[in-house]
This record gives sequence, C-alpha cells and structure tokens, in this order.
Amino acid sequence: MDLNFNRRLSIAPMLDYTDRHERYFLRLISKHVLLYTEMVTTHALINAGADRFLRHNPEEHPVALQLGGNNPSELALCAKMGEDAGFSEINFNCGCPSDRVQSGAFGACLMKEKNIVAECISAMQKAVSIPVSVKTRIGVDHDDSYEFFIDFVKTIAETGCNTFIIHARKAWLKGLSPKENRTKPPLLYDYVYRIKEEMPHLSISLNGGVQSLNTVEEILKKVDGVMVGREAYENPWFLAEADERIFGQKSIAPPNQKALLKAFLPYMEEQLKEGCPLTMMTRHLFGLFNGIPGARRYRQIISEEANRRGAGIETVIKAINAVSEI
Ligand SMILES: Cc1cc2nc3c(=O)[nH]c(=O)nc-3n(C[C@H](O)[C@H](O)[C@H](O)COP(=O)(O)O)c2cc1C
Repeated sequence: MDLNFNRRLSIAPMLDYTDRHERYFLRLISKHVLLYTEMVTTHALINAGADRFLRHNPEEHPVALQLGGNNPSELALCAKMGEDAGFSEINFNCGCPSDRVQSGAFGACLMKEKNIVAECISAMQKAVSIPVSVKTRIGVDHDDSYEFFIDFVKTIAETGCNTFIIHARKAWLKGLSPKENRTKPPLLYDYVYRIKEEMPHLSISLNGGVQSLNTVEEILKKVDGVMVGREAYENPWFLAEADERIFGQKSIAPPNQKALLKAFLPYMEEQLKEGCPLTMMTRHLFGLFNGIPGARRYRQIISEEANRRGAGIETVIKAINAVSEI
C-alpha cells in the first residue's frame, strides 16, 4: 500500500469508467496521479464480497476506494475491507445525485444530513488507519449558500477528517439527470477557494470542469489539489506531462499515444488469458488518438471488431496500425 502519495492531481471516481482496467491504463501515463475507484456501495460490497468489487492490480497504486452508504457500522466494515485489500485511502461519496443513490438515501442528499455524515466518517476513521476523505458538492437544492457549505464542512472536520474534495457546483436532487447535474448548475470555484482561505489547515481539492494542465497549475496556486474526471477519460493523453509539471518528478509516460497503447498490450493479453473480454478494456480507449490522422478508422476497428466474441489482441494491433506514425 502506498501511503506516501500526493494529492496535487487526482482522477475522479466515475461509475462504469474508472474500473481496474482504466486505472491500470492511466497509470502507464502518470506514476504520481492519485486514482479513485468507481463508487462501491456498502450494500454491494457486503453482499457480493471483496473479490468482485475490490480487485485491483498492485501497479495501480496509489489508489483510493470510494464508498457510498449511510450506515456507520456498514461503512466501517467496508472501509476495513478496503484497507485490507490494500487501498491507500477511503473516500466517502456525498456528491452523487442519481435517483438510485437517493433512494438508498446516500450520495449528495447526505449534504442535508451533516450529523449522519459525521457519524459515518467517525466510524470509518475508527476502523482504519489509512486516511478517510469526503467528496462533496458545494450544496444541494436551495441549500446553496456559502454558509450552508462551510457549516457542512466544519461539522465533518470536527471528526478529525481533514481531506475534502469538492465538486464546485451544487446538485439538484429532483428534476435533473446525473449528467445534467454535471453541467447545468454553474461552477462556483470561489466557494472552494474561500473555504481553503478560511480553513487553511484542511486539504482542499477542487473538482469540476478542469480540462488542461495549465488550469490545474492555476488552481493549485489557491488549493491543495485538483481532481479531474471527464477530461482524463475522454482525452487521457493530457496526463502525459503531469508527473513533470504537477509533481516535479521524472515522467514515465511513453513518447506518444501509439507507444502507450503498445505498452498496454501485455496487460490486455494477460486479462484475455484470464477470460476477460477484450471490449472491457478497449471501451476505455476511444479518445486516445483524437485529432491524429487515422483516428476514425482506429475507433471503427475498436468499436466494431473488438466487440466480437473471441476478439483478441490482434484487433488492437490492427487498430494501432490504422493510425499514422506520430
Ligand atoms: C460517467 C461518470 C460517472 C461518475 N461516477 C461517479 C462516482 O461513482 N462517484 C462520484 O463521486 N462521482 C462520480 N462522477 C462525478 C465525477 O467524479 C466528477 O465529480 C464530475 O465528473 C466533475 O468533474 P469533471 O468536470 O472533471 O468531469 C461521475 C462522473 C461521470 C462523468
């Protein structure tokens, strides 16, 4: 387990996106970026067991496990399972507004239940020795004032939790789809900057709408970390300079996207041997060559041929060869 990690840049938890294959792939581009799992609910983890939801490769580290739930003792149990499985941090989801999540009364609707959140965090902190962090919005529904937000953060911070990742827009619990809730409510970075100013002892990471390392560098002048979601998924190559520019370390990124995909081949072969369908891995690779001649043909091969039953590594090699030399 890697506990000596740095939060200057992290990749957001994204359901259906940041699975173990995507995380392994991103790790080939940056050694230092902090990765997050998809959200795992306590219900799923307790019922399905660690193997299905906590499986990951040691190469992914540092990697944080995100949990969703609202029952302190179940969360404590799941946090311990996560620590035992080798995760570097447990992150508590207080930001997801989907109906499915709300019907379980967790995710963003917990922003209205600060005392329950505090109990959940305390229970997890008692159960593990790795850090426990919170990912939250700046508000929900009409509870969207700065006073509401700081009151929520203060209540959680009283438990001793000092790490907050803040998606800098509020969520509407009714009327907007999860996708709309990631675009329609305006981004208010000032809430995040202000809370860092007023509570400087907390580690504050800003999330939402960040699309370049230039922006990451600007935001890092004001807070401790930046979390990037969709841009990292759709355009993973943007991470290629992250180790040098954001962490001040030597880059491990291959020289170009083709070399990166070639470096991913041995992993894909190993997974295929274990019976994992090719498409489980290639579905994450659509955006890799955007803007490069041959990208369309590449995407076509990946979307049509890699989906076929029994498709093997030769399909990926064919797709790589369709792209011009970079
Ligand atoms: C497909 C998708 C799935 C997501 N799943 C989760 C999740 O499981 N847990 C969570 O806290 N946030 C989830 N999010 C929200 C992201 O973590 C992030 O807060 C949001 O996308 C804003 O960051 P961005 O503008 O950099 O994408 C998801 C976002 C997307 C696009």
